[in-house]
Amino acid sequence: MKIFEANISYQVSVFLKEKLINVTSFESANQKMFDVCGIKYFFDNNDDFKSLILLITNTNKDLVAEPDREEYGDFQTNADLANKVAKYLSTKGISPKLVIEPTCGKGNFIIASLNNFKEIQTIIGIEIYKPYVWETKFNILDFFLLNSDSNKPEIKIIHSSVFDFDFQEISKQFQSEDLLVIGNPPWVTNSKLGSLNSTNQPKKNNFKNQNGLDAITGKGNFDIAEYITIMLLDAFQTHNGFLSLLVKNSVVKNIVFEQKIKKYQIKEIEKYCIDSKKEFNVSVEASLLYCKLNSKPTFECKEFDFYSVESKLKFGWLNSKFVSNIDNYLETSQVDNICPFVWRQGIKHDCTAIMELERVNSHFVNNLSQDIRIEEDLVFGFLKSSDLKNIVIEKTRKHTIVTQKKVGQETNYIKELYPQTYEYLNNNLNRFMDRKSSIYNGKPKFSIFGIGDYSFKPYKVAISGLYKTYHFTLVLPQNKKPVMLDDTCYFIGFEKIEYAVYSIILLNSKITEEFLRSITFPDAKRVFTKDLLMRLDLLKLAQLITRQEIDEQIILLNNKYTLNVDFSKWAGFLDEMKPEKDKQMTIFD
Ligand SMILES: C[S@@+](CC[C@H](N)C(=O)[O-])C[C@H]1O[C@@H](n2cnc3c(N)ncnc32)[C@H](O)[C@@H]1O
Repeated sequence: MKIFEANISYQVSVFLKEKLINVTSFESANQKMFDVCGIKYFFDNNDDFKSLILLITNTNKDLVAEPDREEYGDFQTNADLANKVAKYLSTKGISPKLVIEPTCGKGNFIIASLNNFKEIQTIIGIEIYKPYVWETKFNILDFFLLNSDSNKPEIKIIHSSVFDFDFQEISKQFQSEDLLVIGNPPWVTNSKLGSLNSTNQPKKNNFKNQNGLDAITGKGNFDIAEYITIMLLDAFQTHNGFLSLLVKNSVVKNIVFEQKIKKYQIKEIEKYCIDSKKEFNVSVEASLLYCKLNSKPTFECKEFDFYSVESKLKFGWLNSKFVSNIDNYLETSQVDNICPFVWRQGIKHDCTAIMELERVNSHFVNNLSQDIRIEEDLVFGFLKSSDLKNIVIEKTRKHTIVTQKKVGQETNYIKELYPQTYEYLNNNLNRFMDRKSSIYNGKPKFSIFGIGDYSFKPYKVAISGLYKTYHFTLVLPQNKKPVMLDDTCYFIGFEKIEYAVYSIILLNSKITEEFLRSITFPDAKRVFTKDLLMRLDLLKLAQLITRQEIDEQIILLNNKYTLNVDFSKWAGFLDEMKPEKDKQMTIFD
């Protein structure tokens, strides 16, 4: 049964009918409800009270279809999981006086807290969606109708956006109470909210200080849950107590990462991995983040399986390095330095329909299946993450139009030099104008990003940023032209095939894989990033790997791909990687 779009049990609806039918003011109704279930303001005002009376005497009238709640990141925690979380916390000896649920939804964490913590004096729940505020209140009432002898804290369920709520005020008011912040903040990112034109956003939306470049690299994208967790740490880090929130794994990682700078007064940072498919029917890796407040800051996080509490690994800061597996990292840490070559992200054009072409006989076909006849000059072979499966790539499935040689270059030159290409691009101008990202604002018409001299290097060594395959690919020129990669890929480029081959051998070595495994987070949206790849010291790797191993790999590659590469340029390669001041004059290179 539903009232105000909120589920209500039969028992609660009967209770409300019997107890409130003859009550005339909402103040006396509130007093009655407080006595039964501890909720301080069951009815916010007289209108709330009158509408409820009307509905319970005439139930089932308000059955409204659930609205689209994508912008609210609405994944309600099931009662069983909420109860397991609270129970586990109580086995750790946690028994709060004050419980705060920042986005309480239907209230399952509040009920779980009532079930498991017997010394609570105050509960504060906040929720933006009014039907859930009602449902939480109904659920609390239901709990006390079933458990009338249970400890009855003072409870406030507040209809508000968490972003408008003054946690600092609560922090001052309850300075000395033992606190538990518990819940499951919304699972939605600021980029998703942007694309939905949603106003359900923090006011200080730029809390990661993102700029135009971050929009390209994806660094400016953050989870609303991360923002909320940080709000809560800001307000309560100096309180005695604990914070325990279900969040995406990326949020836990970011909180630990930020800890180096923020130095929140938290310790015993722990992450309990849950099965999100089973609990929420979604394919997002999520965990319970747990930490003790009001403590000397710590910088690492222990990871466990939530169900077995089996310890998995430890990640976090080891001196000045952020690593995903502290124990394994120690075995390969000697290659953690600075890569002598600059890793680059591939081309971003945000116009797949027009910019991605397939060659069919003597012409091209675009992603809209239109036949395109344009000059060859600006068309280059193009690889995406999914293409980087083999060790060596000589031929591409796709092509792209490279409209600029560097970012910001005027694109009008195309009209004169390549009239067919210009006509094709200009006929589709609206598609370029419709590109959402602000990075294209005020830029030449057919602008692309991730382009520079480096894009035109003939030999490239590339990896997909998206896949958790620790595997690098050698990309060879196609028809004497360099091949381009898309912005999901990272690469280093070389003029000499030998340098590219030596690099691929070093990068596909066991030691590189072990090192990368100890610094990457396989559940991240982008497993590899430029920052991460820049940590690979290729010079150190070249010193660690034996001549015999390199020789063997050169022979294998030559046999399989007829590359005709030998060891003769190795010294020049090493020299190229040395810092400027250490370089030798290599005459015969
Ligand atoms: C992931 S659900 C979890 C709900 C509840 N904490 C639980 O564990 O079942 C997130 C909740 O946050 C609420 N919410 C979304 N944006 C909010 C905001 N700005 N302020 C308060 N609550 C919000 C949603 O309506 C939803 O109930």
